[in-house]
Amino acid sequence: MDVKCGGTVTKLCLSATLSIFFFKILATLLYFSIFFFVPLPENLLNLIPTSPMLDEQTVQAKSRKRVFPVHHNQEPDPVFEAYSYCNTPNHTEQAWEGHSPVDYKLLSVHVMIRHGDRYPLYAIPKTRRPSIDCTLSASRQPSHPLLTSFINHMGQGARGHWEAQLGSISRLPNHSVCEMGELTQTGVVQHLRNGQLLQRAYKHHSLLPSDWSPRQVWMETTGKSRTLQSGMAFLYGFLPDFDWTKVTVRHQWSTLFCGSACECPARSKYLEEEQRRQYRLRVADSNLERTYINMARTLGVLTRQLRAANPIDSLLCHLCHGLSFPCVSSGDGGTGGCLTMAQFAVIRQQQLDDEVDRRRFGAYRKYAILAMYPYLNRTANKMERVARANEEGRQPRLGGEEVFTFSSGHDVTIAPLLSALGLEEAKFPRFAARIVFEMWKSPPTTQDGEVFIRVLYNGEDVTFHTAFCHPSDHHTNQPLCPLKNFLTFVRKDIFSIVNATSYKEACYKLSG
Ligand SMILES: *[C@@H]1O[C@H](CO)[C@@H](O)[C@H](O)[C@H]1NC(C)=O
Ligand SMILES: *[C@@H]1O[C@H](CO)[C@@H](O)[C@H](O)[C@H]1NC(C)=O
Ligand SMILES: *[C@@H]1O[C@H](CO)[C@@H](O)[C@H](O)[C@H]1NC(C)=O
Ligand SMILES: *[C@@H]1O[C@H](CO)[C@@H](O)[C@H](O)[C@H]1NC(C)=O
Repeated sequence: MDVKCGGTVTKLCLSATLSIFFFKILATLLYFSIFFFVPLPENLLNLIPTSPMLDEQTVQAKSRKRVFPVHHNQEPDPVFEAYSYCNTPNHTEQAWEGHSPVDYKLLSVHVMIRHGDRYPLYAIPKTRRPSIDCTLSASRQPSHPLLTSFINHMGQGARGHWEAQLGSISRLPNHSVCEMGELTQTGVVQHLRNGQLLQRAYKHHSLLPSDWSPRQVWMETTGKSRTLQSGMAFLYGFLPDFDWTKVTVRHQWSTLFCGSACECPARSKYLEEEQRRQYRLRVADSNLERTYINMARTLGVLTRQLRAANPIDSLLCHLCHGLSFPCVSSGDGGTGGCLTMAQFAVIRQQQLDDEVDRRRFGAYRKYAILAMYPYLNRTANKMERVARANEEGRQPRLGGEEVFTFSSGHDVTIAPLLSALGLEEAKFPRFAARIVFEMWKSPPTTQDGEVFIRVLYNGEDVTFHTAFCHPSDHHTNQPLCPLKNFLTFVRKDIFSIVNATSYKEACYKLSG
């Protein structure tokens, strides 16, 4: 969230100040009224084949948050939205991780990130690829005070434990001309900052002792270099100069982090429904069609060839890196000229419209629930285990509990996770987006303290926007959301959305 206090974004500053106030003093009051999510688009631009290993599509961004839910008829500006998608690390970020009512104890933290800024996955036909250097250098901007020591530390990575599929992946971006999809220095800096931000947020809550044990930190990543490298940058910001011998980096083959429970035929069915909806909306948008035709004419390629190259992905990269849009000369089969900001805005606007239409249609939510159930189930189980271990009178387990769980994924991980949690209005995951679950225990009064959950997205507390903690459930005197709400949601209520009572039933029933 881009908060500039004393600057132009005064409403956000007011909200920031208020929320500290609420947390520290009046935590039970009005808490849920602070943030309001404005719709944002999602990806899946093309009609893509269904598989659990969907590659990342391009994208969307974002929305302004408002302090109070006031609806404006004014459309969000698609170019403005795109800048927030870039998440340029050039300003101090305000973040609400680690805030709790006084005397609450932090029991565990679960983080899911999207990788940082990367080079495009696709090239625009006939144009020069954006010129970006993917080697790391502290003398190039944007930089970070930890960058040099991070580079040195990664040089000792062979001392860590890597699951087999990860051993051969480069631990640092290292090409002077970026490869397709490669993490950039901007992406590394984004996650050094994220890690450091959480390190500061949790320092006073002694989440991890200085001599943490291997079992206390769980780290997993998909098998792409950009997620592995993003994860390492985050971990280094979070635990500077960590002891490699204590770290095991685990591999998740699916972008859904579904482990051994990925098999779910109904999930593919919902995704196909969603893709058909998306296709219908797109072909009905004559402005969009005209824009692609014009762009293709400029370049001298077939319209469908241009569309298949997903030009918005590459244009976003130009925009995020301050590079002008690509141009071609007229001798090359096309009319020649440059791709324009106006064309960019049309494609982005269609993505914004698509997000709204997607929510209305509903198939994506069903897809998202089946997609993220295994991850949520695993998270719920871990939380319950740690909560039990913290019950009064329990002997601490030798080697400690898993108090920090960290997963490094993609937009196609974060977007369904948001939807499954009921955060449908959240903006599309920008580069280096993060979802954080915190588990807290209240101070013991007459009996054992109670356990609560907080959910944060990009540093904003969204707990009372989730499906399991609506403001209307919030009439008890509890400042936070009880953990049992989350457990009941994951184990039972979540399936009502797919008209079922279990994951298995939802995955295998033929209709409904
Ligand atoms: C950060 O960079 C973005 C461009 O990505 C720019 O729009 C914004 O004004 C910059 N912010 C600061 C504080 O320099
Ligand atoms: C990066 O690649 C160059 C050659 O491509 C190699 O000499 C260098 O050792 C690599 N650095 C790291 C940190 O992997
Ligand atoms: C969900 O968690 C339970 C343990 O509570 C486990 O037995 C089950 O296999 C998990 N299901 C999936 C689909 O991950
Ligand atoms: C929900 O499932 C039940 C039992 O499987 C079925 O009888 C009912 O028609 C379904 N409802 C919808 C709306 O699909």
